[in-house]
Amino acid sequence: MTNTTSSHYEAHSNESYEEAYFYEPGTYMQHLVDLVGTRLKLGDASPPCRLIDIGGGTGNFAQALMDSHPSKFVSTVVDPFLDPTASGKDVKGLDFVKESAEVFMQQNNSEDVQADDSYWRNGYHKVLLKEVAHHFKAADRVKIFKGIYNALESSEAAGDSSDDSALLIVTRPQVEIDYPLWDEARQVWKENQPSATDFMNELKEAGFVNIQQTLEPYPCQIPLDRWQSMVKGKFWSTFSNFSDEELEAACETIAKDYADRVGKDGILHFEDRLVFISAGKKKA
Ligand SMILES: C[S@@+](CC[C@H](N)C(=O)[O-])C[C@H]1O[C@@H](n2cnc3c(N)ncnc32)[C@H](O)[C@@H]1O
Repeated sequence: MTNTTSSHYEAHSNESYEEAYFYEPGTYMQHLVDLVGTRLKLGDASPPCRLIDIGGGTGNFAQALMDSHPSKFVSTVVDPFLDPTASGKDVKGLDFVKESAEVFMQQNNSEDVQADDSYWRNGYHKVLLKEVAHHFKAADRVKIFKGIYNALESSEAAGDSSDDSALLIVTRPQVEIDYPLWDEARQVWKENQPSATDFMNELKEAGFVNIQQTLEPYPCQIPLDRWQSMVKGKFWSTFSNFSDEELEAACETIAKDYADRVGKDGILHFEDRLVFISAGKKKA
């Protein structure tokens, strides 16, 4: 993970993070919960199915997933930065581990997995990596995916079709994004966002099978001034590459460049595009 990534997330409080449209409870989040539930086949799962949500932030997405699939699975949220205890979360079946994904690089083979006695890093059936995999260094990604693969358990608890729904990466496209940005931000984005093909090749190298990719568009409507506040509040790490003055100027550029996307009511229209990459573990 880069220094910009760590300082970006360390600077965020749980509240500032959850206030950022894409991470607050509401219609958009419910839409994603439904998509993620379908792709991970959570409706087919049954206890003792265990899901780990790596880079799961404050746990609000894992919590929404659990609310939509009551009694189907338990979940561990793994995140190095955001502290759930600060928001007083206490959800049955949901627990938190303050760790980074890189810890999975220690699980090179089945002996490493057997020697590891941490409950959460062993014997899970489903893995969610939502909006986090682009933060891993390119040189670490296959090793992280391999470590995740090695300790992944395919069992009846995960449902019969666990071989194509064990892991889900939710990320964004490297190019052809529709967010109201400006040229320098689009360049930073591209440099920090691996392509879907990169991730798919890396998952394959790590051992995953049945790797499938889809693009999921969602029409977003946000008041322009809210979008500008989100940008100035650096809701994505992309914006942490710019000074406050640069972001102030960029927000004026956005207002001009996207004037034809703003209605009389001040609402800005754009499309969110998420890339869903699902994969499975070969049955032994
Ligand atoms: C954009 S947020 C997404 C949070 C959550 N998955 C969601 O969709 O609501 C990215 C999260 O990844 C976490 N993160 C960044 N680098 C990480 C790493 N190397 N390992 C695990 N988590 C990481 C951050 O702390 C942050 O909570």
